This record gives sequence, C-alpha cells and structure tokens, in this order.
Amino acid sequence: MRYFIGVDSSTTATKALLMDEMGKVIAVAASEYSFETPYPLWSEQNPDLWWQATIESIRGILAQSGIVPRDVAGIGLTGQMHGLVLLDQFGEPLRPAILWNDQRTAKQCDRVREEVGKETLIQISGNDALTGFTAPKILWVRDEEPEIYRRISQILLPKDYVRYKLTGAFAMDRAGGSGTILFDLANRTWSSKLLESLDINPEFLPPTFEGPEITGELTMEAAEATGLVAGIPVMAGGGDQAAAAVGTGAVEAGVVSLSLGTSGVVFATLDEPRVEPNGRLHAFCHALPNKWHFMGVMLSAAGSLRWHRDVFAPKVDFAELIARAEEIPSGSAGLLFVPYLSGERTPHPDPFARGAFIGLTIRHTLDHFTRAVLEGVAFGLRDSFELMKNSGLDAIKEVRITGGGAKSLLWRQILADVFNVEISTVSSLEGAAYGAALLAASGAGAFKDVSSATKKAISIVERTSPGEATLAYEELYQGYRELYPALKSTFSALSLFEEKT
Ligand code: XUL
Repeated sequence: MRYFIGVDSSTTATKALLMDEMGKVIAVAASEYSFETPYPLWSEQNPDLWWQATIESIRGILAQSGIVPRDVAGIGLTGQMHGLVLLDQFGEPLRPAILWNDQRTAKQCDRVREEVGKETLIQISGNDALTGFTAPKILWVRDEEPEIYRRISQILLPKDYVRYKLTGAFAMDRAGGSGTILFDLANRTWSSKLLESLDINPEFLPPTFEGPEITGELTMEAAEATGLVAGIPVMAGGGDQAAAAVGTGAVEAGVVSLSLGTSGVVFATLDEPRVEPNGRLHAFCHALPNKWHFMGVMLSAAGSLRWHRDVFAPKVDFAELIARAEEIPSGSAGLLFVPYLSGERTPHPDPFARGAFIGLTIRHTLDHFTRAVLEGVAFGLRDSFELMKNSGLDAIKEVRITGGGAKSLLWRQILADVFNVEISTVSSLEGAAYGAALLAASGAGAFKDVSSATKKAISIVERTSPGEATLAYEELYQGYRELYPALKSTFSALSLFEEKT
C-alpha cells in the first residue's frame, strides 16, 4: 500500500493528514500557533512557525499510524492564501509574513486600481484590489519599508515557504498564484502587463504549477527533520479554498461547495475563466488543470450564530438553541438579520458594513432572533449565488455543504429553501488537507486524475430538498437585498463611535 500526505498551513495551525491510496484517511495531527497584531489592522506571522508545526504534525501522523516512511509516495501542500512572505538571497525571511486578514493596504489598493485601471485589473486578474490580497502588500513594503524591499530575492505564499523548506525549491500552485492578483487568469501564468504596470520585478516570483504536478523532492535535511525519507515528490497542491473544494469533490462545473464555518464560502467550479464585471466575486484558478472558480466570501457566517449565542444565551448549547428556533415559523415573524458583524467581503467589500436586526416588535423572543440569524446568513450567501448566476455560471446541479454549521438540519433546510436547490452533505470532513492529499495522489498516478480521485473517495451522505418555505423566502430575500444600500451611510457614520482598541 502507498500513502499520501496533505499539509495545510492555516492561520491558526498546521495540520498533516495521512491517506492511503484508496483515499481512506489513516491519521490526522495538528500543531497550533498564533498570529500577531502589533498595530490596528495588522496581522502577521513568523514563517518559522509553519515549518516547525509542519515537522511536528508530520511526525504526529507517522507516530499515530506506525506506517513505514518509505511507503509515503507523495506530499500535497495547501494553506492560507494571499499572505506575503519575503526572502533574501540566502532564503531567509526578511520580515514576518503579512497575512490574508491584514487590512493595512487601503491606500495601496487605490494605487493598484489607478496604475492598472480597475477594469483592466478585473479583466486580467479576475479580481478587484482588496486589502487582503498579495499585490497591494508588496506595494506597502515598497512604500513603508524600502530598506527591506531592496533586499527581496523571492516572494512566496505561506504554503510555498513550507514547500521551500521541504524541497529547497521555489515554486507556487496556480490557485495561490491567482490569489496574488498578479496573475493572468485566462492564461494561468504571471501577467507581464500587471507586473510592468506595478513595477514589480518578475524575478521575485517563482514558477507556478498545476495542483497535481511535482514541484520538487524532499531534501535529506527535511527528511531528517520530519522522519520521512529523502526523494518523496512534493506536489503543488492549492490555496486552501481550492484544495478544500477538491476535498469535498467540487471539481466540476455545476457542483458548488458551500462552507459554513466562522466565515462562509460559496465556491463554484468553472470550465473556463469568467469574471464578475465589477470584481465583487473572486475569480481564481482552481487546483486542477483547466478549471477555474468563482468564490464569494461572507466574513461572519457560523460566526454570527456563535456571537448571538455568546451574547444573548451563553448558557444554552447550539443544539438546544437551534431546536427552539425550529418552532418559529419561516420568516421569524418579520424579523430580518444582516450578518456583516466584521464588515463584509462579498457582495459588499466594505470594512465598515455592520450587523443589524430589522423589523423588531414587542412579541419577538430569543428564538425569533436565533432563527433570524440562520435566515440572514442564508440570504447573505445567496447574494454570492446571484452574482455567480448573473456572471455566466452554468446551471447549478448540486450544492455540497461542509463546516460546523452544516451539522444543523434546520440550517441546511433553510439554505435549501433560500437557494431553491438541493443541498447535500458529503463523507469527507477533513477539508483542505484532504484535498491536498488527493491532489498528491492524483499526481503520483494513484488515480487517473483529480476528478476520478474525488469520485472514488467522496460520497454523498444526506440530501435536503427545497420545501414549502421557498416562496416566502423568495419574497423576504428581496427585502433583505434592500437593507445594505439603505444602511450603508448609517454604518459609515456609526463607525466614528466605535472603540478603537
Ligand atoms: C481566501 C481567503 C481565506 C484564507 C484563509 O480568499 O482569504 O480563505 O485563505 O485561510
């Protein structure tokens, strides 16, 4: 039997997963770390944390499984997207990495739009300039830390720093590459036009590879550190969202994956590159060759429910809270919830957007609030679907749901009703690390290709069809859509009163 490893370097932990060549998960181990916010809006992490946590978690899965390290036939990498890692000529980090959730680059985003032209930027890269993306971070370092900028020899993403430590090679997957917004989305390579317009030296950037392609082999030094053997191929893998979609089997046009974690992600695979003309959806390369994807990101999805529980019902567990909301009729007796508790990304990229309950009456109870939260999150996610449909997404055949919120049958029913589409849960629960292991296994020939890997390894567990409430939710959704435009200037005025610490 051959085995494959997926390594996911996320914002809070690095997770290693060991899978056999049939796609069965054998062991999972994680090693946690934190990130720093030295100033308001900043979010940084020392790259060495990812490497040390990679060593620890790989050692963890080897110890748990007791397999012979010689039987590991490939390693696939994934991790947080968009983070900026700068290396000097000796391969040493020049400063802490600037992460995807860092918000310091508003000025540089404006400059990217000015220097490239917003329309051209969206047409070439598929995306508008958002503070979290990599390109504006590069401009920030050039503006604010010129002495560091002068010493740059390589620019990598977090997962690719781990790749460099494993293989000694500089390389990047194309899903990650497109998340820098320096990529030519249609041609799946660095855009010379964007690099020239922003005056970024192309030599800083590594070659890019499709997810299952080999990017290097494990060095002697990395083998000693991890307990593996030298020479194991390390495959490109993919950014965490693309790899997670592989991990749920969302690899064909028409199959949408809906992730209901702290944040909510709507991910739709595309057979050709498409863009939303105003850049309100993200459009990136998928982790498998010749596929692309749209993505909508809601910042507070299951996070809204957690907030609601923690503030209003801290002693009630989620199962009870949701069971009580089930007794409330669809529409929460006229109460609507707007879920922008941490600002929003899709469809309103607005750091000052805020949450709201609208339509309160004296008869509303805690349980109405709970149901309104579940419904408001579903309406917010439907906004991404609508943008996708209006931007040429083919008919949606299937929606696969994952993440903590997916455990609730009530929430799944509300989502099926609000989207008017069948929602399915799947057998794989390990997300991006599992997707990275499947990409490695496909690259090593254990499966014909990524699509057949997911067909063999992942199955549907439970289906929820749209029910009676569909029509009522359609009407309420139209009301929900009017709320952000009506409240936008109020949100912005209220931000002046927020605590700054
Ligand atoms: C994707 C994104 C997040 C990070 C965090 O666009 O910003 O998913 O990759 O892991």
